[in-house]
Amino acid sequence: SLSMVTCTAPVNIAVIKYWGKRDEDLILPMNSSLSLTLHQDQLKTTTTVACSRNFQQDRIWLNGKEEDISNPRLQSCLQESILWRLNDFDCNGTCTSMTSCSPNDDDDDVKIWFVLVYTLSQLFGVESEQLSAVARQGSGSACRSLYGGFVQWKLGEQLDGKDSLAEQVESESYWPELRVLTLVVSAEQKSVGSTSGMHTSVETSQLLKYRADVVVPSRMEEMIRVIRERDFPAFGELTMKDSNQFHAICLDTYPPIFYLNNMSHRIISLVHRYNQYYGETRVAYTFDAGPNAVIYTLQDHLSEFVQVVRHFFPPEVSGEEFFKGLPVCSAD
Ligand code: DP6
Repeated sequence: SLSMVTCTAPVNIAVIKYWGKRDEDLILPMNSSLSLTLHQDQLKTTTTVACSRNFQQDRIWLNGKEEDISNPRLQSCLQESILWRLNDFDCNGTCTSMTSCSPNDDDDDVKIWFVLVYTLSQLFGVESEQLSAVARQGSGSACRSLYGGFVQWKLGEQLDGKDSLAEQVESESYWPELRVLTLVVSAEQKSVGSTSGMHTSVETSQLLKYRADVVVPSRMEEMIRVIRERDFPAFGELTMKDSNQFHAICLDTYPPIFYLNNMSHRIISLVHRYNQYYGETRVAYTFDAGPNAVIYTLQDHLSEFVQVVRHFFPPEVSGEEFFKGLPVCSAD
């Protein structure tokens, strides 16, 4: 008896970054975070999970390559799902999964973990409340992909992490004019993975503690307010400041972590010059644990900004992959 399910899972891009764990085993964050879930064809991950009583043991393939089943993250996902298997599915606790990932997803193991958990949940018919916690155990930020639109991952207070969950702030249709553009500066693998990077930051950066205790609590409230008001200038400014603070923490980490490169810095300068020209924030950038830029803007300013970027970053400078994010998608 072989049962199979195929699912796709979206990417999320944080505007208030998650960086630092208070519990590395349960994957509990030191601060709350907020992201937008992007349903863009090029960016989503497709997974097929098959489950059969004929297999002797669990086997997982990610991007066509078989994963080491003793990987602790994989184990915690699978162990959770074993409960579902016993409850809902008579398959002797074995599982086979194949995940295919679109190219250039350098920094999104997130999606792979999420999609694995999500697909398993579809297979075993699990409710979504449990899912947030399980997805989180694969990769912290993955739990935000459970919902569309604007999603917050609440820090939570409990030691067991039961209240550290993702929650939708507004749906994808709330701000239809919002646009997202990805500028692929480099398709190379990031130098320091987010898990080990944030571990070193927690150990060495004092700025990280200040950010978690003092900055993020009020910034989360402010961010939710400006999203509800659809106030793009305020949304953009907060988004850029938060990205910059995250990269400042990386620099404050010892030894320092460099995720941004020259191209990233040039994009940052260009966005600020563009906004200064109009005397208002029309475009915002955010960068995760790598040099690629994610740009937020409104439909009205999109084509002009794309022209400006094309002018300053012609293909011979930026490379073929640069405009991977085109055609642009809305947040939904
Ligand atoms: C910079 O979720 O990849 O993208 O929980 O260790 O798997 P682990 O980390 P991960 O960290 C993502 C960090 C970030 C910011 C964010 O998405 O909030």
